[in-house]
Amino acid sequence: MKASSAVPTAAVILAAGKGTRMGSELPKVMHRLAGFPLVGHVLYQAAQAGIDKLVVVIAPGMHQVSRYVCEMPGITSEVTVAVQEEQLGTAHAVLAAKDALAGFEGNLLVLYGDTPLVTTETLTRLQEVLLDDARCAVAVLGFRMEAPNDYGRLILGGDGALERIVEARDASAVQKKVTLCNSGVFAIRGNLAWELLGQIGNDNAKGEYYLTDIVELANSAGYRANVIETESAEVLGVNSRGELAAAEAAFQQRARRAHMDSGVTLLDPASVYFSADTVVGPDSLIEPNVFFGPGVAIGAGTHIKAFSHIEGSVIGDGAVVGPFARLRPGTNLGEKVKIGNFVEVKKSEIEAGAKINHLSYIGDAEIGENSNIGAGTITCNYDGFHKYRTTIGRDVFVGSNTSLVAPLTIGEGAMIAAGSVITEDIAPDALALARTRQEQKQDWAVGFRERKVAEKKAAKKKKSGTD
Ligand code: UD1
Ligand code: CA
Repeated sequence: MKASSAVPTAAVILAAGKGTRMGSELPKVMHRLAGFPLVGHVLYQAAQAGIDKLVVVIAPGMHQVSRYVCEMPGITSEVTVAVQEEQLGTAHAVLAAKDALAGFEGNLLVLYGDTPLVTTETLTRLQEVLLDDARCAVAVLGFRMEAPNDYGRLILGGDGALERIVEARDASAVQKKVTLCNSGVFAIRGNLAWELLGQIGNDNAKGEYYLTDIVELANSAGYRANVIETESAEVLGVNSRGELAAAEAAFQQRARRAHMDSGVTLLDPASVYFSADTVVGPDSLIEPNVFFGPGVAIGAGTHIKAFSHIEGSVIGDGAVVGPFARLRPGTNLGEKVKIGNFVEVKKSEIEAGAKINHLSYIGDAEIGENSNIGAGTITCNYDGFHKYRTTIGRDVFVGSNTSLVAPLTIGEGAMIAAGSVITEDIAPDALALARTRQEQKQDWAVGFRERKVAEKKAAKKKKSGTD
């Protein structure tokens, strides 16, 4: 019986630590990795692993964290928050979730809010350890590191089972040489969890209640503890800005590989930055130096040219974007739309085949199929107080350097002369001209030049006469 769904599992996510080393007003787990708070990554992976009850342990006053996790979009698991009044150690933190889990009978998974790269596969594998061995009370996720410094060391017995975990500051010289480390991720058998946790004391170098002590307690109660290993990159913890950058690098490397594996060409993978939720269809080509913020979904066969910044946007199949394009939240590009250089689009629907190729700002607009928006067109959508919409029908031709003063409706097939400032609606198929009529004075320039030359000559003569 392998299916992890056979035994319900709840996850306790520890996030009460102050994160002093981040040097920030923001709680550590709210710092962003690939566009999303660290704790969001952990919740998402746990939910993906089929865990439908998530308890996030926070410190008093961490309202931002509790608001974020309780309203996190995209997960259907039940999320609750438990407050750990004082930070007395990792075991104490798990115990803070006890009331939130009253009546829950399944197994427990302990995760850290600051360890965002743990994958769904690993969480599933860890749960399976408990399912495979009825005598196993605790499963620990371990990793190898040549110089493990501060990490807890996993001390194995002759049979390969886990005897105990020793914190670095409590370790002997011999124990310090052990390279198998504790990631902090644990699976604990539900019917034993609270009893074992309750027995943990704080007689150690830090005077804290160590979750790691649960291993020895399980062994003395006649159960076993087992270790599964993963690569160290997956359990990178974030305690400082440096480690945040390292986690971001690891995440991006993983994301670039995944996108390439699913059929996306990256000309220079290292210069493309994805968000955790970026979706890109197959046979798309992404040029160097492209940044994707949260909420981007791109269709198949698209071409995203160099130096484009894209967030909160949907891009249809076969669209071409950039170079140097900026797509802001609420942008929706239909099939084969073309957005060219130095074009900014915000909160706008651009329908199939429409083109905005050069130097434009399009905000709060709707542009119909196959319309062509000339260079330098600006939707004037804001009067300093309110935003107004511009609605443009299909097959419209907007001449270069047009200002569209919203609110406006431009009928399908209409044309606008270059340089116009459009302030009124335009009927379908009409031509609108809204600029000063050109005046022409025949041969005026000839007379002008003659006057100027004569003036210059006279001035020179006067000067030489006074010498
Ligand atoms: C812990 C482990 C160590 C492991 C390391 C991996 C223990 C005793 N030690 O050490 O074996 O190698 O993680 O990173 O478990 N937290 C709370 N409340 C508390 C204390 C901690 O919520 O009272 C949270 C922190 O916010 C953090 C996590 O638990 O997310 C780990 O706490 P931390 O103090 O960083 O543990 P380490 O000393 O690094
Ligand atoms: Ca830590």
